[in-house]
Amino acid sequence: MISRRRARGGDFLRLRLPGRSLRIGAPRGVHPVDDVAIHGLRRLPARPGDSVLDLGCGTGVYGLAAAVLGAGRVLFTDIDPRAVRCALANARRNGVPGAEGRAGDFFEPCGRERFDLIIANLPQTPGPVPFLRSKWGGPDGTLFLRRLLREAPGRLRPGGRLFFVLHDMGDSRRVLRQARRRFRLRALHTLRREFAPGEYDAYHPGLFAYLDRLRRRGKCRFRGRGDQRWFLFRFMEAALRGPPRGGTPRGPLRSRAAGSARGGRARARSGRSAGGAPARGRAAGP
Ligand SMILES: C[S@@+](CC[C@H](N)C(=O)[O-])C[C@H]1O[C@@H](n2cnc3c(N)ncnc32)[C@H](O)[C@@H]1O
Repeated sequence: MISRRRARGGDFLRLRLPGRSLRIGAPRGVHPVDDVAIHGLRRLPARPGDSVLDLGCGTGVYGLAAAVLGAGRVLFTDIDPRAVRCALANARRNGVPGAEGRAGDFFEPCGRERFDLIIANLPQTPGPVPFLRSKWGGPDGTLFLRRLLREAPGRLRPGGRLFFVLHDMGDSRRVLRQARRRFRLRALHTLRREFAPGEYDAYHPGLFAYLDRLRRRGKCRFRGRGDQRWFLFRFMEAALRGPPRGGTPRGPLRSRAAGSARGGRARARSGRSAGGAPARGRAAGP
């Protein structure tokens, strides 16, 4: 169950997870908790004791959910110091002890630390020029994801895993080809997201026409006509090739948060197959 309250300067929402509810603030300018995150965190493969990096944390919703699943340590990072401050405030608000936050580009704020689980929901909407920092993923949408796949192996502990969100507005096939070279992949869940072209033109004039040109070249995969269009989100687990680590997963979170990625019309499937001043800080205990 999820309830949302608008407050001056941003949003507050309450997210009910099994045995635990989280109260999450999202000040204006920080990527809000959306239906994609609500579906994603229900499949989060966090294990008790894991050391977790929430890269591009926004409100920190994924890292907080990992803490609920028993993660031993959570580090929030984001290039936007406002996001890091927001994630730390949410950690304090929800009594997540020992969470840390650091602002900076990609893995730069992590020093030499390695993690059991890296969570990344990175910008991946293609665009001819940068538009929104939380959405623009380079000319074909793969800029940040390909960087993640290149750099993550050096940031994972043996047996470490990546949990990343991938959608078909960007060249997801290119990302998957690269991912398979270093990781064993598992699609934990897919989500159909409906949209109207105007949504993209509101981000940047002419953006939908650009996406449509990519689609004709096979580099963007949305379907439908007129205002009834849709594409897929995939929630991927990528395990670094190498000997598996011990420990039994506690299983994915199943919040009762039902929903769609647009106006109650999205359908989800589960499958087993397939810049500014640095902000650093620590969340106090309860
Ligand atoms: C799509 S939002 C996701 C936010 C949050 N993880 C969620 O799922 O709700 C992407 C986030 O990545 C951050 N980001 C963009 N470029 C980054 C970079 N080079 N290094 C770290 N974070 C970055 C943005 O500031 C934004 O908060």
